[in-house]
Amino acid sequence: MATTAPTGSPPSQPSLTHPSPPLKLTTVKALSESPGLSSIPSIYTFPKQPYHEPVSDTKEPIPTIDFSLLTSSHPDERSETIRELGKACRDWGFFMVINHGVPERMMKAIIEACREFFELPEEEKRGISGKHVLDPIRFGTSFNESVDEILCWRDYVKIFQHPEFHSPDKPPSFREIALEYSKRVRLVAREIIRGISDSLGLEKDYIDETLNLENGLQLIAANLYPPCPQPELAMGLPPHSDHGLLTLLIQNQIGGLQVQHKGKWVNIDPIPNSFLANIGDHIEILSNGKYKSVLHRAVVNNRDVRISIAMPHGPALDAIVGPASKLVENVGNPPAYGAMKYKEYLELQQCTMLNGKSSLERIRNGV
Ligand code: OGA
Ligand code: NI
Repeated sequence: MATTAPTGSPPSQPSLTHPSPPLKLTTVKALSESPGLSSIPSIYTFPKQPYHEPVSDTKEPIPTIDFSLLTSSHPDERSETIRELGKACRDWGFFMVINHGVPERMMKAIIEACREFFELPEEEKRGISGKHVLDPIRFGTSFNESVDEILCWRDYVKIFQHPEFHSPDKPPSFREIALEYSKRVRLVAREIIRGISDSLGLEKDYIDETLNLENGLQLIAANLYPPCPQPELAMGLPPHSDHGLLTLLIQNQIGGLQVQHKGKWVNIDPIPNSFLANIGDHIEILSNGKYKSVLHRAVVNNRDVRISIAMPHGPALDAIVGPASKLVENVGNPPAYGAMKYKEYLELQQCTMLNGKSSLERIRNGV
């Protein structure tokens, strides 16, 4: 061969191969409100259209975990619930949480507060938004508007709640409602994570202490999915897994979430007044793949505005996460994932296109 291979690949410069999209795109809310909109711009057309893939007709219900039994002082009730929790994590990666103690009025209030936030003028919402994944308030559309080549039919706002609390100033009630809601949900999440730790055969507080959950990252990630004139062509959120340890999601009674189970998409209709919980990439990493962070997506409809509020709970930003040594040694299998700082993982996920589990793939050993 006469040519010499380059010794290193040049830094990727997507702007050389693709024209950069305008920095600030129209929100889907504004687009959906344009008079007489009967079709969607082609940039919202997904090649793998959601309604073309068969949806599972399984009668198998998504597992339900009774939170009051997880915190029961009766040892048998707790250990039975831990067994069910472990099975739910292994079989589905998703489960409903009932009897969690967070008042229904708080769940409704936070959905209304987010709805009012989305109603604010565009400039106001853009005005308070940071640009980097670690900025405490980010408002935008699609997934990552600076890299997406196809746009998602979704606007969002992400607000850091812990270890530092942040809130937009408008609507005026937002701060108080968010503070109260986040505090209550954080207690539920930490207790479920203790249960997960237990179910993996680790000390109950292993994950909490090793990953410094006292300073763990908690976000409000509110999604707005306006009615879409051609829902069969668009996607609210394409298939992805969540980055943290545990996400707790609520919605305004309008369905749209689908979870991958046994190779098919399953429609999930949460029980009112419950949380839909799913484990994130960092439980998959910590458990050395024993529990998988499952792909899910959101489809849209042409009738109703859907609002969902996902609340991801992660390690402390500077915690380094790798497979728990006890799990690796006990089973005699090598660590399947490289260890990485949580903060760096978040940055990696933001600059990778949403194509399935790309971020996890990149730290999986031997890939
Ligand atoms: C998310 C998410 C699903 C939904 O925000 O990560 O998966 O139903 N949302 O909105
Ligand atoms: Ni998600």
